[in-house]
Amino acid sequence: MVNIAIVGTGYVGLVTGACFAEVGHRVVCVDNNRDKVKLLQGGGIPIYEPGLEDLVKRNVAEGRLQFTDSIQEGVDQSDVIFIAVPTPPQADGSTDLSFVEKVAREISSVMTSYKIIVDKSTVPVRTGEKVAETIKRYNEHGVDFDVASNPEFLREGCAVADLMNPDRVVVGVSSPRPVTTLKAIYEPFDAPIIVTDISSSELIKHACNSFLALKISYINAIAAICEASGADVDDVAHGMGLDQRIGRAFLDAGIGYGGSCFPKDVSAFIHIADQLGYDFSLLKEVARINRHQVERFLKRIHDTLWIVKDKTIAVLGLAFKPNTDDMRLAPSLEIIRSLLEDGAKIRAYDPKAMDNARAILPDLEYCSDPYAAATGAEALVVCTEWPEFRSLDLDRLRSVMTQPVVLDGRNIFNPQDMTARGFIYYGVGRKPQHER
Ligand code: UGA
Repeated sequence: MVNIAIVGTGYVGLVTGACFAEVGHRVVCVDNNRDKVKLLQGGGIPIYEPGLEDLVKRNVAEGRLQFTDSIQEGVDQSDVIFIAVPTPPQADGSTDLSFVEKVAREISSVMTSYKIIVDKSTVPVRTGEKVAETIKRYNEHGVDFDVASNPEFLREGCAVADLMNPDRVVVGVSSPRPVTTLKAIYEPFDAPIIVTDISSSELIKHACNSFLALKISYINAIAAICEASGADVDDVAHGMGLDQRIGRAFLDAGIGYGGSCFPKDVSAFIHIADQLGYDFSLLKEVARINRHQVERFLKRIHDTLWIVKDKTIAVLGLAFKPNTDDMRLAPSLEIIRSLLEDGAKIRAYDPKAMDNARAILPDLEYCSDPYAAATGAEALVVCTEWPEFRSLDLDRLRSVMTQPVVLDGRNIFNPQDMTARGFIYYGVGRKPQHER
């Protein structure tokens, strides 16, 4: 059992804290947002994430997990302190590291005995060096410490499962001293633990996210070629994916990647590479293809409807991916904003993200279910591949629509089936069925 503090109860911090507690560690989660801490202390969960609520409740009840707004309390009770604060993008694509720096200062000014300070936030390579310098400078009591890097690889929507069953754990250190303790934290998770220097560990995180974004943009580029040539992107992805050197994962063509990680991390990686003297033009193209994918989809909507003005369009799915209520950089946002600008009326449905969406997109009609959204619509647009959309009663859906036009931005429906049911159906990178 290791005594752990986690500073920052955002996605990564909260899920990590709950999972560390679940395997038997004593965890205190620290956040400077008092309202959030109060909510968590009262059994509330600020985000939607499958399985998280039960996990938090159980571990709080069993005394392994607690919440505080006092960094002093967290540091005093712990041997290892994880920094899991936001590292948002700045206008030039670089990373705003001010939260990491502030927390490093706060930790160092209150620690009175040897601590291991671990950066879990996604940061550009060489941040660890800066964190160590900062802690040394503000170390009021002159105590010994080690800094480590331990990137997180969880995905929103399956964060608990990802954290409980990691493919690997990466730990970056600048001396062997903290390794035994860090390994003890991760031993219960039964995954390979890779120990590297701090810079390599930081790079692994950016390299992984950028590579996954690259896979998505690659298949989206192939989708464009499929549309132009009459090939089918699902067949191409299947044929590629069976090659074990490539793999099928992250080859789902669609309206591109969104969320709080890929867009930000691709930009940040380009930026830090640039600072280090390398022009990462490959990643610039990855980001460009991703932006272009939404434009291509919007063009498809316009080509299909001819005039968008005053037409009612149903949108199914708003979150940037299924099983989350997260709207950050969701491709749906750009699509909806553009359609609204062109005078369309939008009727939207999302199983979890409508509250968050309302705050950003007040001018939509939010509906209670997919059929209500589709009622009276001249086209239905799919922006998020929620599992429940795959099993919709398609005949019922068609019967409530004014025109049976479906533009499937996530390729969730079977094109032949849709055509057989009388829909005019378009996917991404799929041959338009009615033209066959
Ligand atoms: C991503 C990584 O997958 C995690 O490993 C990482 O820990 C996390 O970022 C992070 O850095 O915190 P996440 O952003 O939660 O996780 O979601 P993903 O499942 O990776 O999906 C990202 C976006 O790519 C979504 O918009 C999704 O719709 C899109 N996507 C994904 C595709 O368009 N096609 C695919 O084949 C896969």
